[in-house]
Amino acid sequence: MMLRNEMTKCLKIAYPIIQAPMAGGVTTSKLVAETSNAGGLGMVGAGYMAPTQIRDQIKEIQKLTSKPFGINLFVPQPFDVSEDSMKAANQALTTIRQQLHLPDKDNFGIADYNEVLEAFKEQIQVVIEEQVPICSFTFGIPSQEVIAELKQHNITLMGTATTVMEAVQNEAAGMDMVVVQGSEAGGHRGGFLNQEQESSDSVGLMSLLPQVTDAITIPVVAAGGIMDGRGLAASMCLGAQGVQMGTAFLTCVESGAHPVHKEAVLSISEDQTVYTRSFSGKWARGVKNHFILEMQNHEVYLPDFPVQNTLTQDIRKAAFAENNPDFMSLWSGQSTRLAKSQTVEALIENMVAEAKKLNVNI
Ligand SMILES: Cc1cc2nc3c(=O)[nH]c(=O)nc-3n(C[C@H](O)[C@H](O)[C@H](O)COP(=O)(O)O)c2cc1C
Repeated sequence: MMLRNEMTKCLKIAYPIIQAPMAGGVTTSKLVAETSNAGGLGMVGAGYMAPTQIRDQIKEIQKLTSKPFGINLFVPQPFDVSEDSMKAANQALTTIRQQLHLPDKDNFGIADYNEVLEAFKEQIQVVIEEQVPICSFTFGIPSQEVIAELKQHNITLMGTATTVMEAVQNEAAGMDMVVVQGSEAGGHRGGFLNQEQESSDSVGLMSLLPQVTDAITIPVVAAGGIMDGRGLAASMCLGAQGVQMGTAFLTCVESGAHPVHKEAVLSISEDQTVYTRSFSGKWARGVKNHFILEMQNHEVYLPDFPVQNTLTQDIRKAAFAENNPDFMSLWSGQSTRLAKSQTVEALIENMVAEAKKLNVNI
């Protein structure tokens, strides 16, 4: 097996290791730049960022590395913003707000789909103007118009898929490669074809990877539960050309995850993460905590992303400020026992050495 392949050539990186984009402040400029400097690909989780913030971070990273790095964006999907569903969901959060001594919320300030779409287009313009070489997407596939514009500027495009059909659609739309996300993965599910049943139907990486690589010809990047050289070697055996890892980078020294978040991931066992849509309206895997358990009965009728995400914003912000893990969204994959507090350089060096021992050639 070779660690250099079509994917590493296309991304101009030494090792087929991508630091997952992690929106919400985890992917600091240092984390991204250190990954790229160590021979992997650093990615900025820019889904929630305003265009000016994205531009500033790109400039900061460019000062720290001359190597390629990428930007990841959320593809907007239509969502329902009916007043009734918002009020019901907001009511369910009342007791949580009381526990955190937060005032009731009656002004939701929720953007509609067209505004979200407009903001996405502005984010795309920053990627083009700042000449970022790689752009990846989750939650959907951008329009043909957006894809064509990015391609015109020679930007390498990566999609996300959680099923074979989603991978096929990514290839058909013109993506250069696709990240295949197994059910072990931390954070939001990147799927877009079967959202309602995401939690019970999701497919594990060992099953999904060979089925996807049989169905498409563009390079496949494996994601979900990969933490070390063993995971990299196994992924490549199953047909992937590289890996994208979130949880392994989240606990790194350079990551911007809240110390309480890092501590939670470092201390739990493999069966202590769950799927929830209570934080954002989209299924995501995180450490089981008080908020998730309390909201479990309301989960099915909560409004879609990004509505529920906006409704819970004050709760997450207060929990963050108070170092309170009970109400934070502690996204994490299932391979928590393999998480370490280490530098990015050590993580990548060890992975490559371990993969070499397992006969993956560099
Ligand atoms: C804290 C956290 C935030 C994440 N945010 C994003 C994101 O903004 N965009 C994205 O495409 N994937 C995101 N993901 C998912 C990762 O891309 C990847 O699928 C996942 O981390 C792989 O599983 P692992 O955490 O077990 O390595 C996130 C994952 C985590 C843990």
